[in-house]
Amino acid sequence: QQLLRDSLPEAEVLIVSNREPYIHNRDGDTVSVQVPASGLVSALEPVIRACGGTWIAHGSGSADRETVDRHDRIDVPPDRPAYSLRRIWISDEEQEGFYYGFANEGLWPLCHIAFVRPTFRENDWRLYQAINERFADAVVQEAKTDDPIVLVQDYHFALAPRMIRNKLPKATIITFWHIPWPNAETFSICPWKEQIIDGMLGSTILGFHTQFHCNNFFETVDRFIESRIDREHATVTLGGHETMVRAYPISIEWPPAALEGQPPVEVCRAEVRAALGLAPDTRIAVGIERFDYTKGILDRMRAVDDLLTRQPDWKGRLVFVQVAAPTRSKLSSYSSLQDDAVALADEINARHGSADYTPIRLLIRHHGAAEVFKLFRAADCCVVSSLHDGMNLVAKEFAAARDDERGVLVLSSFTGASRELAAALIVNPYHLHEMATALDTALRMPDREQQERMRAMRQQIREWNVYRWAARMLIDAAASRRRQRIFDLAG
Ligand code: F6P
Repeated sequence: QQLLRDSLPEAEVLIVSNREPYIHNRDGDTVSVQVPASGLVSALEPVIRACGGTWIAHGSGSADRETVDRHDRIDVPPDRPAYSLRRIWISDEEQEGFYYGFANEGLWPLCHIAFVRPTFRENDWRLYQAINERFADAVVQEAKTDDPIVLVQDYHFALAPRMIRNKLPKATIITFWHIPWPNAETFSICPWKEQIIDGMLGSTILGFHTQFHCNNFFETVDRFIESRIDREHATVTLGGHETMVRAYPISIEWPPAALEGQPPVEVCRAEVRAALGLAPDTRIAVGIERFDYTKGILDRMRAVDDLLTRQPDWKGRLVFVQVAAPTRSKLSSYSSLQDDAVALADEINARHGSADYTPIRLLIRHHGAAEVFKLFRAADCCVVSSLHDGMNLVAKEFAAARDDERGVLVLSSFTGASRELAAALIVNPYHLHEMATALDTALRMPDREQQERMRAMRQQIREWNVYRWAARMLIDAAASRRRQRIFDLAG
């Protein structure tokens, strides 16, 4: 946090994202506040809490409107306000085209190697443009100076950097793309590829999780846009404006707030076992994420099935708990995944279970951070089997939750996190036997080895935490602002 504070420039900070950090929902007479299941939110919230500013996001909760002031603003976090949340309203029709359509049926499958065909519709594109413009306008309304630092988040806002640049030419725009960037050939599927790239190149700094994604981006620019690419200095110059393209691997806060007040690991274990009705010596493997087809949820359930088939001595002794928060359920690719997962869990439970043994527990609901951390602490192993993922913060949160230095992480090689967390058991989620074997290895791993591996992962995350992620971008932004000032002074 100190590093972040030290690197903070004097400028004001604005964040632009689709997902809001706090959602207010009404249930009868009561209004409850929810923190959404979002890697983006868990990474950025501690950063803006530390540096203050304004977060501009889509107001999506049923009670969101009744909690804002007349400028659509509310101070958050609700218990100890540290920054301002400006909510933007999006109609159902706009949401269909902008969020479900262009962002999640177009760009999401386009950027992930998940074998779901991207769908691009003219009307979705029109609404995507309109909503990007609405957020860019909100930045101008909220900015108190002509040169703020604007943090634009994710694939929902590829066009916003250029729109903001046109309105606030002196702004420092840091855009972070939270999902992978595909190769040039794949990206060319998008009918509006030039506009998307041009929009992103309105940024001062453009960040991806890995160098691999930066390289894919350079190749895409090279193929489709007339510009000057300087690989050595990692820049693209378009129409006289330079964008720095760099890898900034995202991370989590350290120490994690969700760890505060957690009982010792043995207590968590006892509580979780009691809540699930498990015998005291049952081994627990967990998977926790949004119900998304990129996460490999079916694949890891099949791996558990394979393990119980090939090593029947695990029957009755191992339970796999899958927490899956419903997400984007209006889209058939998501609702059918949910149906398939329920059917597969039933099938596996029928094959290996008995009256008093249910090997797969599928918990389909949103779990708060404290609940998630308790489950992490109770688990012998955590499985992150994403088929493709920009970073994957669940992997980092699992290690952060284990201050007892025990527990094993089974981690897909197709996550950005696998580049940093080499002490995990790295697997190919498409290889069923390999995943089942890794699960078996994890569950039999001697204490000493668990400790060595967990210690290495925790050290990496502690050192490369989310404050450093933000600080590195802000330091690069400060250098760019300094260069610009000198350039302006030199006339
Ligand atoms: O990090 C990828 C991401 O799509 C974020 O942009 C988003 O907040 C999160 O996953 C959850 O998705 P959604 O906001 O669509 O529920």
